[in-house]
Amino acid sequence: MSETLIRGQILHCLDEPEQHDGAVEYIADGLLWIQDGYIKTTGSYTQLSGGLNKRQLDAVEDQRKCLIVPGFVDCHVHYPQTQMIAAYGTQLLDWLNTYTFPVEASFADAAHAKQVAHVFLDQLVRNGTTTALVFCSVHPQSVDAFFSIAQARQMRMIAGKVMMDRHAPPAVTDTADSSYHDSNALIQRWHGVDRLSYAVTPRFAPTSTPAQLQAAGRLLREHPGVYLHTHLSENQDEVKWVKSLFPTADHYLDVYDQAGLLGRRSVFAHGIYLCDSECQRLAQTESVLAHCPTSNLFIGSGLFPMQRIAAAGIRIGMGTDVGGGTSFSMLQTTAEAYKIQQLQGHNLTPEQAFYLATLGGAKALDLDTVIGNLKPGKEADFCLLDPTATNLTAFRSAHCRDWRELLFVLQMLGDDRTVKTTYILGKPQSQLPVAGLQQ
Ligand code: GUN
Ligand code: ZN
Repeated sequence: MSETLIRGQILHCLDEPEQHDGAVEYIADGLLWIQDGYIKTTGSYTQLSGGLNKRQLDAVEDQRKCLIVPGFVDCHVHYPQTQMIAAYGTQLLDWLNTYTFPVEASFADAAHAKQVAHVFLDQLVRNGTTTALVFCSVHPQSVDAFFSIAQARQMRMIAGKVMMDRHAPPAVTDTADSSYHDSNALIQRWHGVDRLSYAVTPRFAPTSTPAQLQAAGRLLREHPGVYLHTHLSENQDEVKWVKSLFPTADHYLDVYDQAGLLGRRSVFAHGIYLCDSECQRLAQTESVLAHCPTSNLFIGSGLFPMQRIAAAGIRIGMGTDVGGGTSFSMLQTTAEAYKIQQLQGHNLTPEQAFYLATLGGAKALDLDTVIGNLKPGKEADFCLLDPTATNLTAFRSAHCRDWRELLFVLQMLGDDRTVKTTYILGKPQSQLPVAGLQQ
């Protein structure tokens, strides 16, 4: 039996703060007790330490200056775009043609895909992200590369092969038929293996023929439990293009709806420009929107109307959307989400933002029975946040009156430096040498 005991400031969500009082639990002097990769007990150090023997007491790691928080959940990110994060000067449709498609073409090479998958997963770990819903490229070998490395690291990941049969160069397109067969084979190979799940991944409506979207719907019907992952209503030119490509659809979402792509394991990135009937249909089908603030700002897409989306009863997760997004940090992602709501006259509370990045993300991915907080029985994916990691956060946090203020400060000022250690199934992940980033 392997056992890990950590003493620190425990902070996690038991429920959604906007909906329930007392949804956040903070234990100023807490003990997290892990056995064989799962959380055995979470509670007050004073109460729990009485039940520990001498060997266990000696083994307790003292991390009292750190917050112990659940691993972050990134609900939308592209691993092949790691090498083009921060690409200058374009908005969505030009950005795809100028930067994204040429870079994704290089993932036909399995060795290259493996190398980037390592860099990508290193970045997630450095930033305290332990679960993500991930776009691969159109090439099946990009999915094999990603899953084999995630599996070796024992990470809980959801990913899939891009389906894209038009409006892109031949090096990154497939056909309705080949995408069906390749996705099918990948589902057989990877879905439900260890901590891995498959997502059927049509890129977005403009790059799939109706026949390919139907093939995606068929995959979902034939494999209950797999996810659907795509983009929706991110950019105004994109929305106009979809209208012209699918003139008989009621609206953008209807294109996906007609192919049977909506449901509680369907995650649509963005959703900035939705009409009331799209909102109603998303809520009715329990589909999820992944809000990607750094991306929405960086590629100039627009302001996500979180209040309206939440009021419509739509499930929300948060994503970095790297490489449209500019940071792997869910703390930085939270900071930009806060500012986007500020521009719309709404205050996103630190506890609600923390929820969206942890338990809310787990709920969005239908994984809240296994991850998302530090309750006994859950998988021990968590990280330590160190308020003293930078000069500024050390100075500022000394002036915090309570955990809520500290949480907000770390969201606004924190990044990968704030994450002292990330644990996967109770095992600390070695902080990888910067040399690992060399290409
Ligand atoms: N829409 C279609 N493809 C993409 C992509 O790769 N990134 C973003 N942000 N939006 C998209
Ligand atoms: Zn995206």
